[in-house]
Amino acid sequence: MDKMWAGRFSKALDKEADDFNSSLHFDCKMFRQDICGSIAHAQMLAKQGIITTADCEEIIDGLTGILEDIENGRLTFDSDAEDIHMFIESELTARKGDVGKRLHTARSRNDQVAVDIRLYLRDEAEKVNDLLYSLIEVIRDKAAENQDAILPGYTHLQRAQPITFAHHLLAYAQMFMRDASRLQDAVKRMNYSPLGSCALSGTTYDTDREYEAEKLGFYGIMQNSIDGVSDRDFCVELMSAFSIIMMHLSRFSEEIILWSSWEFKFVELDDSYTTGSSIMPQKKNPDMAELVRGKTGRVYGDLFALLTSLKGLPLAYNKDMQEDKEAIFDSIETVQKCLSIFAPMLATMTVLKENMYSAAQKGFINATDLADYLVKKGMPFRTAYKIVGQTVAECIEKNKVLETLTLDEYKAHSDLFSEDLFNEISLETCISKRISAGSTGYKSVEKQIEFVTEFINGKKESIY
Ligand code: ARG
Repeated sequence: MDKMWAGRFSKALDKEADDFNSSLHFDCKMFRQDICGSIAHAQMLAKQGIITTADCEEIIDGLTGILEDIENGRLTFDSDAEDIHMFIESELTARKGDVGKRLHTARSRNDQVAVDIRLYLRDEAEKVNDLLYSLIEVIRDKAAENQDAILPGYTHLQRAQPITFAHHLLAYAQMFMRDASRLQDAVKRMNYSPLGSCALSGTTYDTDREYEAEKLGFYGIMQNSIDGVSDRDFCVELMSAFSIIMMHLSRFSEEIILWSSWEFKFVELDDSYTTGSSIMPQKKNPDMAELVRGKTGRVYGDLFALLTSLKGLPLAYNKDMQEDKEAIFDSIETVQKCLSIFAPMLATMTVLKENMYSAAQKGFINATDLADYLVKKGMPFRTAYKIVGQTVAECIEKNKVLETLTLDEYKAHSDLFSEDLFNEISLETCISKRISAGSTGYKSVEKQIEFVTEFINGKKESIY
């Protein structure tokens, strides 16, 4: 079949060059958005008297038929059309003759594709947003069940201070809440219509861009036609938001992988989210968490691929920009899949509270609390810090822990030590005495759970 633009050429495009040029096999994903955009465009052309109402009705009838046929599988993308825009236009013309040829008045594929991607990403970003909210809910529920589970909090992967598992989980809830708000922000900025920018400079027809923008659910129109067709910053911004989501998921995955090792044994993943080994019968591997961690690199890669493709492009449209789609599609699908697998994996994970507790009992994680005990009895913090350091050294030498050192042994370090110190350094006291806002203290954690719940209920949309 001749290309739409064949008039200017005396020779057909080389077959391999044709395949190289074609984007239909991936941009066919946007068929719905392409058809919606075309319907709005036809309606605008008719309203402005650029085409007749009868032609507009025929065009809409043709496009609706094409949409139904694609959805029912009667029409496939088995075609040599260059891209989804050409595919639908030529199908329309095949069905409606000359009327179909009027659709592309006052439009270019450059603004057409810019509209299609925005519409497509708006829908897909909403799915990501929903998935984030579901994950936040799972985290909230898990946290609510684990307010009494005490484990060591780590810095440098060294046992540092006691925390509750709920508090640890809620840190991730906050991250994913910011991720959702970041995503919503990017979508808001993206939601302006480039339609009517045409090839780059606008058009000589008296179009009504606001009308079609409104029909397509945009907040308004893009104010500069060159910008409208030549930037893909919204793709970059979304992919940055996806990369940050993946970075959070990856850190969480890493912890789940560590926690489910024999060395930690803090959690056990459900059989339905783990795999066995082909040779080692005892193995239960956290493959899903590992894959999420692994796929993070891929999403970062997609972001960098597009940033690099865009960095040297003169205004306005360049064919390099066709590379935006595979990168953004891959990135959005990957983040959607990772979120959909991660949430149920977490929901079905068993928390081994006793193991967490016994890990918290070793490693002197209450040493800060012991120093604070001396401070509250009047000693300057730095002195208390030093004395507790010496006490810990004695414990290590005698193979004891702070709980098993005798009062006499304590008194050798400072007169301020008395019997009540043992209650003061119990793990439960360490937690309940954390009274600062946002801390691991039981009350603070309860407040955090409420805060997350309010976010889930949509009451705190713009908290950050
Ligand atoms: N398939 C092209 C893309 O994805 C559509 C725009 C083509 N425009 C052009 N002038 N060749 O970018």
